[in-house]
Amino acid sequence: MTDPATDHLVDPETLRERALTTLVTARDRTTLLTDCVEEPDLTAQHSPLMSPLVWDLAHIGNQEEQWLLRAVAGQEAIRPEIDSLYDAFEHPRSERPRLPLLPPDEARRYAAEVRGRALDVLENTALHGTRLTEAGFAFGMIAQHEQQHDETMLITHQLRKGPQVLTAPDPDPGPPFTGPAEVLVPGGPFTMGTSTEPWALDNERPAHRREVAPFFIDTTPVTNAAYQAFVDDGGYDDRRWWTPDGWDHIRRHSVTAPLFWRRDGRQWLRRRFGVTEVVPPDEPVLHVCWYEADAYARWAGRRLPTEAEWEKAARYDPAGDRSMRYPWGDADPGPEHANLGQRHLRPAPAGSYPAGESPLGVRQLIGDVWEWTSSDFAPYPGFAAFPYKEYSEVFFGPGYKVLRGGSFAVDAVACRGTFRNWDLPIRRQIFSGFRTARSETV
Ligand code: AVJ
Ligand code: FE
Repeated sequence: MTDPATDHLVDPETLRERALTTLVTARDRTTLLTDCVEEPDLTAQHSPLMSPLVWDLAHIGNQEEQWLLRAVAGQEAIRPEIDSLYDAFEHPRSERPRLPLLPPDEARRYAAEVRGRALDVLENTALHGTRLTEAGFAFGMIAQHEQQHDETMLITHQLRKGPQVLTAPDPDPGPPFTGPAEVLVPGGPFTMGTSTEPWALDNERPAHRREVAPFFIDTTPVTNAAYQAFVDDGGYDDRRWWTPDGWDHIRRHSVTAPLFWRRDGRQWLRRRFGVTEVVPPDEPVLHVCWYEADAYARWAGRRLPTEAEWEKAARYDPAGDRSMRYPWGDADPGPEHANLGQRHLRPAPAGSYPAGESPLGVRQLIGDVWEWTSSDFAPYPGFAAFPYKEYSEVFFGPGYKVLRGGSFAVDAVACRGTFRNWDLPIRRQIFSGFRTARSETV
């Protein structure tokens, strides 16, 4: 299938270069996240929700070995005995620190050995001919996998107690946003998902038509100031705003504010990568679970957008009556479009990135904070698991809610207008926020 929006991505000259660059970028980030602490911090479990950092490191290498060395190049296993240690389905995160994991130096050597061979495979493999190699898919999938774990490792850093070890410049605040609070997205069908984006993962496929009724959506993510109004209004003590499951959860676990927030007299403080600071009023709220996002929206007289509404707001161009790759068009994300890739270690103020605006004027759909939607994680019509059921298929069902748009912590290679993330509705250690919507009623 050809598509002018994505054709340049499958040009053979640029493909190998693009695969190489994305693999190198991912490894640079992995190295930074695992070299900035001493050995005990790599093998410790900083939260029962997370793996020790040294598990992520060897797991990254092990996935790369399985897909690029074994599946693509037909090589023998380097250390077959370690596969089960790094199989995410065999051992829940809470148990991983007690496994006989490779110690840090061995994990580093193992990942480096795999990478050296993978780059040889990249040089010597035709990037077409099989579904795995077509347009370099397996290389893109592995770069995305590593970047997803780099986001996971950044979450571990955020949960880690102790002084700051990571620093990055703050986003440029830019001029204050003066646009409307919400915009109307016209009703009608649009194309959801993709069949032409070469490195799109199985759950983003295939492209299909979706009917969406007209609705209003927030032009920016919900800010800390707006969320604090809900907290200060007694939102966490008022059962009316919560689903029965959500109410039960926040009572049982004494959830009274976003994760990492602490009240100090009349103001709220938060801990961010080892530093305590006043909660910045104009930044998108971060570290809320789906139940909190859903309750806030009800309190505000609104609701979360569905996943289809979110994607229509992010991709639909009324002028061309088509779905674009990103809100701003088909160009790959640049630093002017979105806050991605751990360039900054916080979201930018709400209303930033005018160059990343959608045709209808919606901002920050890509980057800054993952956005909860009201939808359960479900397959698109015509879905086929590829290359393995454990990436997406085993998670389909009512237990998981979809998040869209990516955060400051995810790299552009693992973030698209079609990209789907998911998690349990209780999770808030992730870099999650939200925006709200309402149906158009006549
Ligand atoms: C898509 C972010 C939910 O971290 O569980 C990493 C990504 N899959 N290794 C996860 C993933 C396999 C996945 N999420
Ligand atoms: Fe993984």
